[in-house]
Amino acid sequence: MSHAFWGSPDTPARPAPAGDSTYDVVVVGGGVSGLLAAVLLARAGKSVAVLEARRVGQGTTGHSTAKVSILQGSRMSTIMDHHNSSLARDYVEGNREGQAWLRRFLEDNAVPHRTATAWTYATTDEGAVKVAEEAQASQAAGLVVERGADPALPFAVTDAISLPDQVLIDPVQLVDALVAELEAHGGVVHEGTRLMGAEVDDHNVLVATDAEARVRADRLVLATGCPVLDRGGWFGRLTAHRSYAVAVRGVTPPDGMYLSVDSPTRSLRPAADDVLLVGGNNHVTGRGPDEAGHLVDLAAWADEHFPGGEVTHRWSAQDWHGPSGLPYAGALVPHDERVLVMTGYAKWGFTNAAAGALVLSKRILGGELPPWEPAWSTWSAADLRGLPDVLLANAKVAAEMVAGHVTRGPLSKLTGRSGESAPVCTHLGGRLRWNDAEQSWDCPLHGSRFAADGSVLDGPACKRLEL
Ligand SMILES: Cc1cc2nc3c(=O)[nH]c(=O)nc-3n(C[C@H](O)[C@H](O)[C@H](O)COP(=O)(O)OP(=O)(O)OC[C@H]3O[C@@H](n4cnc5c(N)ncnc54)[C@H](O)[C@@H]3O)c2cc1C
Ligand code: FES
Repeated sequence: MSHAFWGSPDTPARPAPAGDSTYDVVVVGGGVSGLLAAVLLARAGKSVAVLEARRVGQGTTGHSTAKVSILQGSRMSTIMDHHNSSLARDYVEGNREGQAWLRRFLEDNAVPHRTATAWTYATTDEGAVKVAEEAQASQAAGLVVERGADPALPFAVTDAISLPDQVLIDPVQLVDALVAELEAHGGVVHEGTRLMGAEVDDHNVLVATDAEARVRADRLVLATGCPVLDRGGWFGRLTAHRSYAVAVRGVTPPDGMYLSVDSPTRSLRPAADDVLLVGGNNHVTGRGPDEAGHLVDLAAWADEHFPGGEVTHRWSAQDWHGPSGLPYAGALVPHDERVLVMTGYAKWGFTNAAAGALVLSKRILGGELPPWEPAWSTWSAADLRGLPDVLLANAKVAAEMVAGHVTRGPLSKLTGRSGESAPVCTHLGGRLRWNDAEQSWDCPLHGSRFAADGSVLDGPACKRLEL
């Protein structure tokens, strides 16, 4: 059983930096966010280096279901619960522009993709109410959706809305094309290179990595999911949500892309004529419980509704959610444009990363920001309206602390895989939990993850576990 449905690189890793080097911009993170930002900046003539701790595209990007859609489950309802319709309209407009940019890039670079109708559907009466609310919120935000058509799924649906002409891609093919475009414009990619810290002075940013070399830049872009520098308290603002997916071969998938509003969430898309991807079973990282059980559950659901297929791949991945449904592309800390951040896509990273990259490139290159930029703002008053949810998230962290899941003392030695003998997180001392689906140590506080050998899989932690 393989994890790498979309494929992993079969070429040697691009080398770590050697000697001292200076760039206009260093981008940290070789997922869709970092690569999109790097391409826009390199095209505009900036010298750009991307530092990627592992291999490009092998983070969340290479483990997503890769629907490039503006209809996004019940996202518009979430945004409208926290914000006015003006920000919701900005969000839709930015997603439109991000999607249009990606479409052009896919076409210009002959990256395989196909269009399909996106659906948000319900299977219960309570879910039907949510679909109706989403239709209303979408309308208020300027997104015209169709209501009441039949999604032709092999189970009963109580209501559905749809948006035609959305896009399905293979995320690894997109990443490969972005890297080729970046390198064609003089950009450099260093794989196996982890940022460990950064010093910002009046002149530039000195980036410390786990390689010997020193890298300097005028600007630093953190596209690492949760920002890996602790300034700005981002780890308290964002929450890591894992979700699960299986690939089923030997079935006839429905034609469109689908997301349920009922829990547990079900996400469907075709990946070939006889291959269906089924995703869902979202939870906060490190607070499973029974991660492997989520995969068993998804496979059983797929077999019930699309019988006769073979599950060829199972995997899980995580994405970062802000408090109010809006994404971020802007300054890491207020009033300092030297370190910038892109994050908070809440499982809708393709259109949002493209829009975020358009915002960041304008911030760095100068010129007018897009009129819809307020929906990506990192330090707006509007975002502070999400504060109660941040406090709730932090209250849950506090509960974890009371439950003894945080160790304040020095790092303990790993002696086992559960309870008191579990190792502690190198970020801020959270007691790690064993994830039996991924064979990893996951932190219930801010979402860092470590492989069984102690290496970092997901930040905000940068430092490996000493086992
Ligand atoms: C199961 C699942 C399904 C999804 N499906 C969809 C979908 O259908 N449509 C959609 O639009 N979105 C989807 N998403 C969301 C989307 O995949 C993400 O929002 C997007 O891929 C995030 O891209 P990124 O570049 O920000 O992060 P990543 O792809 O995770 O890239 C961040 C990179 O930073 C690197 N890194 C981290 N720390 C350091 C460091 N200290 N130094 C150097 N490098 C570092 C990591 O190794 C990683 O490669 C899904 C997400 C999940 C979890
Ligand atoms: S991620 Fe912050 S303590 Fe583990």
